[in-house]
Amino acid sequence: MLLPSLQPGASAVVIGATGGLGQAFVNRLAGEDNIGQVFALSRHPPVEPRSAVTWVPIDLDAEGTIEAAVNTVREACSQIDLVIVASGILHGGTDLQPEKTWRTLNAAAFERVFAVNTFGPALVAKHFLPLLRRDRKAVFAAVSARVGSIGDNQLGGWYAYRASKAALNMIIKTLSIELARRYPDAVCVGLHPGTVNTALSKPFQSGVPPQRLFTPDDAATHLLGVIDRLTPEDTGHLFAWDGQRIPF
Ligand SMILES: NC(=O)c1ccc[n+]([C@@H]2O[C@H](COP(=O)([O-])OP(=O)(O)OC[C@H]3O[C@@H](n4cnc5c(N)ncnc54)[C@H](OP(=O)(O)O)[C@@H]3O)[C@@H](O)[C@H]2O)c1
Repeated sequence: MLLPSLQPGASAVVIGATGGLGQAFVNRLAGEDNIGQVFALSRHPPVEPRSAVTWVPIDLDAEGTIEAAVNTVREACSQIDLVIVASGILHGGTDLQPEKTWRTLNAAAFERVFAVNTFGPALVAKHFLPLLRRDRKAVFAAVSARVGSIGDNQLGGWYAYRASKAALNMIIKTLSIELARRYPDAVCVGLHPGTVNTALSKPFQSGVPPQRLFTPDDAATHLLGVIDRLTPEDTGHLFAWDGQRIPF
């Protein structure tokens, strides 16, 4: 059992459910005995739907779809134990590549990356946090990235992605302060999955030693273990796949 700290019959919501990590979270959660309901939220329906999983459409670029998604989830269950935001963007076509130098900085690319990596999770929090269970542990976790840590930045580059994740980390910290006032048992964190073999990391895997390139299933298993060990004292922080806290 990966999540014994959650209420038996717990409900879980995964945003970005068709992504590499998102799909792995959905599959793992659907196989957990103490998870009662799994909601998989994404722009497109899953290629291989599972009867134990409810698909709900969402597009982080359109707040109305986030609001509609929360209403659909609320009709099926009044409280949520776990929300995982596993959506994100690093590259997309020739116009959106991680920058190696300030010479290629581009406002449109910044806007695109921030829309998905920062504004999207913030708006998901706006609509989904009120549905978190209040009588015991509940978790809101957004997949961030170590490269969003300002203190950890040794290499430079990847301006828009790094900045979008640093801003996401600030959003998480700020949400956690407000959340603690009314949901004392809730935990709001950022998660770093390590380097995971997905479409997002594909073009950048060449320097990664094989033992450090995780399968999506490994990464989801690591992160669900981290989520399980979280307590309210951990709220507002960023945690790596091995449970280590990453300084902002
Ligand atoms: N892979 C890694 O090594 C790694 C390392 C550190 C952090 N991360 C973080 O982990 C998270 C998951 O990444 P991944 O590796 O699983 O990447 P992925 O396979 O490319 O999945 C990204 C997901 O984000 C979704 N998405 C993009 N724009 C969206 C929008 N406007 N509305 C709704 N969903 C949207 C995509 O949906 P569609 O399927 O509809 O395109 C896709 O499901 C990201 O936040 C990423 O930054 C990954």
